[in-house]
Amino acid sequence: MADLIVGIQWGDEGKGKVVDSLAGQYDYVVRYQGGHNAGHTIVVGSRKVALHLLPSGILYPHCKNIIGNGVVIDPWALAEEMQSFENLQGRLFVSDKAHLILPYHILLDQAKEKNKQRAIGTTGKGIGPCYGDKILRNGIRVMDLKNLEVMKTKIAHILQELGYVEKLYGIELPSVDSIMQKIESVRPSIMPFIADSTQILWKAQEKGEKILCEGAQGSMLDVDHGTYPFVTSSTTIAAGACSGSGLSPKSLKNIIGVAKAYCTRVGNGVFPTEEEGEVGEWLRQKGGEFGTTTGRARRCGWFDSVAVKYACGLNGCDSLSIMKLDVLDGLERVKVCVAYEYEGKRIDYIPTDYNNVKPIYQEFEGWEKTCGVRSFDSLPSKAQDYIKALEEITKVKISMISTSPQRDDIIMR
Ligand code: GDP
Ligand code: IMO
Ligand code: MG
Repeated sequence: MADLIVGIQWGDEGKGKVVDSLAGQYDYVVRYQGGHNAGHTIVVGSRKVALHLLPSGILYPHCKNIIGNGVVIDPWALAEEMQSFENLQGRLFVSDKAHLILPYHILLDQAKEKNKQRAIGTTGKGIGPCYGDKILRNGIRVMDLKNLEVMKTKIAHILQELGYVEKLYGIELPSVDSIMQKIESVRPSIMPFIADSTQILWKAQEKGEKILCEGAQGSMLDVDHGTYPFVTSSTTIAAGACSGSGLSPKSLKNIIGVAKAYCTRVGNGVFPTEEEGEVGEWLRQKGGEFGTTTGRARRCGWFDSVAVKYACGLNGCDSLSIMKLDVLDGLERVKVCVAYEYEGKRIDYIPTDYNNVKPIYQEFEGWEKTCGVRSFDSLPSKAQDYIKALEEITKVKISMISTSPQRDDIIMR
């Protein structure tokens, strides 16, 4: 069986910390979608690691890490990330079916953003164009690294088809030779890790080994169920774990949704509980809400239980992990959005016309300090009340509460 960690808001919920906190108990950690648009932070003592493509089990020597077929891989970004770790052979496997992000994807991502009336605010890493090519059946896969002659022919054809974008966007595409030269130089770093990762996972299941799937981004950024078009280009909800790894839906057991005790979003798009004033700035500064991948300031606001309940429905969450409770320490009052006002009525769901909802809040008394607390009973009573209220409002058990970036500062219930 496999367990699953999935983001419940707009990404950056603290998935990396949760996966790292649990990975010691697992044999495999599997990334199944997204690419190096993800930035998953792990803090152990004075060591801080930001992972983009490598799964968050990488700090445990016993743990095998899989980059599944649903991930889009910039091979140069992966090679660079791998340099920070030793002895990866035998504990990192890269799916032969995963698609490669190539230089033209990045150019296209950035050019499309510039050309849009309202930019999505992508990470500019080539994610959308690479998934686009996958769906168009124009993609170059990891397995293509095994035959560079064939790969070169495919890329030459793609560049020919893409010729029109040079004039449209005023950009110059790289030549096939320059791309192949770059690929040849990165190829030796990736080749030893290429594997049929689905077979590896099936064999692991047969042996009764434990698998943890690690989602990237968040449910509200899902290409189908998120705030389209201000979303990423992959299936970020639990369902993506199956298509992106080869595990069957029947193998998913414990699904844990990760959410902050408040809410953030990077990039454009609707965010009903956003606080643009003092409170937003407090959360940004105290929570260090600046992107792990792009350094951009994250938009900040209150916990939105309507959006969280929607995401829990999409994912079938067995429980929630509530992160960054300590960031709310010291606030006099804390708010939770419990419903929306829409067309003069109170609603408790997300309407199609999501841009025009106004949050309805329930207020809670603040508390002094939760930072570093490791047991529920040691939390200030007002913080306990807040957690219990979130549980009641969302109707999902809160099984973990995080009180600092450190690996061990987490309450297991
Ligand atoms: P991810 O993309 O979901 O893995 O999340 P990120 O790593 O992008 O962002 C979460 C940030 O919050 C990171 O800087 C973490 O180190 C930090 N973090 C995680 N849990 C806590 C917590 O409980 N308290 C505080 N203060 N920071 C946390
Ligand atoms: P982790 O895994 C937060 C956002 C971008 C943009 C939109 C589309 O660290 O939670 P893309 O480059 O994917 O085409 O951008 O999605 N986005 C994220 N926001 N956390 C992430 O990953 C994100 N990955 C993409 O900011 O709004
Ligand atoms: Mg992140």
